[in-house]
Amino acid sequence: MLEEDLVCYCFEVPRDEIIEIIQKNKACTVDDIQLHCSACLGCGGCRPDLEELLETFSPPPFSLKHGRSSFKE
Ligand code: FES
Repeated sequence: MLEEDLVCYCFEVPRDEIIEIIQKNKACTVDDIQLHCSACLGCGGCRPDLEELLETFSPPPFSLKHGRSSFKE
């Protein structure tokens, strides 16, 4: 694995694993990601990168549709 593929250097968690956790488990927070791996449980230096991946890959939590909140697919 290339070093640039890593997001969390403390626990050697690669970007692909983080994206898979976000998408498969509908992770919306860093805490959600931590339920599935050890990313960000060390120095915390990877938190901004995790938040950026969450912003890019997490599903929208809900939308206001027809005046009611509903989950977006
Ligand atoms: S780089 Fe992720 S906890 Fe240190």
